Amino acid sequence: MPTKSYPERYAVFGNPVSHSLSPKIHALFAAQTAQDMTYEAICAPLDGFADAVNTFIAVGGGGDHGVARGANVTVPFKLEAFRLANDLTPRAAAAGAVNTLSFSRHGIQGDNTDGAGLVRDLTANLGMSLTGLRILLLGAGGAAQGVILPLQEQNPAVLFIANRTADKAHRLADLFGVTSGSFDELNQHTFDLVINATSAGLSDAVLPTPTFSATAFAYEMVYGVETSFMRAARAAGARVADGLGMLVEQAAEAFFVWRGVRPDTAPVLAALRAELSADSSRAAQA
Ligand code: ATR
Repeated sequence: MPTKSYPERYAVFGNPVSHSLSPKIHALFAAQTAQDMTYEAICAPLDGFADAVNTFIAVGGGGDHGVARGANVTVPFKLEAFRLANDLTPRAAAAGAVNTLSFSRHGIQGDNTDGAGLVRDLTANLGMSLTGLRILLLGAGGAAQGVILPLQEQNPAVLFIANRTADKAHRLADLFGVTSGSFDELNQHTFDLVINATSAGLSDAVLPTPTFSATAFAYEMVYGVETSFMRAARAAGARVADGLGMLVEQAAEAFFVWRGVRPDTAPVLAALRAELSADSSRAAQA
C-alpha cells in the first residue's frame, strides 16, 4: 500500500512574528503555482532561534509531518541565521545576514533575497533602470548592507552610503568599494534614487533631505505607513514608493529558491495593497 505523503513544510521565524505577511504571501504563491506545501509563522524564543529551527527540521518526514524544506528569517534573527547556515550563497555572504534558509541532506544553506527583492521591485514593478543612476543609500545597518551587492550589480554611476554615524557608512563603503559620507554632506550631491534603509521610518524620526534630480525616485523600505522620509521626498518633487513591493519580491525570490517556480507577484502585491489601504481607512474612521 503506498504511504501517504504530506506537503513539504516551510515557515517564517521571528520574534514577534504575528504581524508577518509572509504566511499569506506564500499561501497565495503556492495556490497560484499549484505547489503542495505549508507555510507557518513561528515565534522563536529570543535565546532559542537555532533550537527552534532544528526542531522544525527534526519533526519532518516522520509521523504525519511533511519534510521541512526551508524557512524565512525575520527580525531579530537574521544574523543568527547567518551563523547557523553551514553554506552561504555569495549574496548572503555579502549581506552578512540570512533571510532564507534551505534544508537538505547536505545541511542548511543560507541565502539573502532582500536585495534581489528591492532591485526587482525597482526595475520590474516601478519601471526603473538603475544602470547609470546616482543612488544614495541612507543607513549602514543590516538592512543597508543586505542590498548593496545587488544594487552594485545593476551598474549605477554612483552608490553613495550615508549614515547618522558616518564611521559605519565609511566601513561599509570600504567593504564594497563604494563612496560614503555623513548626513551633513548630502546637500553637496544630487541623486536620482534615494533608498531609506534606516530604521528611522519606524519611529518617524526626521532624516536630512538630500538634493533630488528632476526625475528622482525615493524608496522607503518600511511599508504601510507614510514616513517623514516619504513626506519630505514628495515635498521635494520626487516620486515615492514604500517597501511593500520589496517585501513581496523578496518572498517571490525565496519561493523561487525553494520551489524552482517564479510566482506572478502582481496580483499578490495588489491584494496586499488593497488590504493595507482598507486597514488604514478603517483606522482613520476609528
Ligand atoms: P536594520 O537591521 O534595520 O538595518 P540596524 O542594524 O540597527 O537595523 O540599523 C539601523 C540603521 O538605522 C542605522 O543605520 C541607524 O543609524 P546609526 O548607525 O547612526 O545608529 C539608522 N537609524 C536609526 N534611527 C535613526 C534616526 N532616528 N535617524 C537616523 N538614522 C537612524
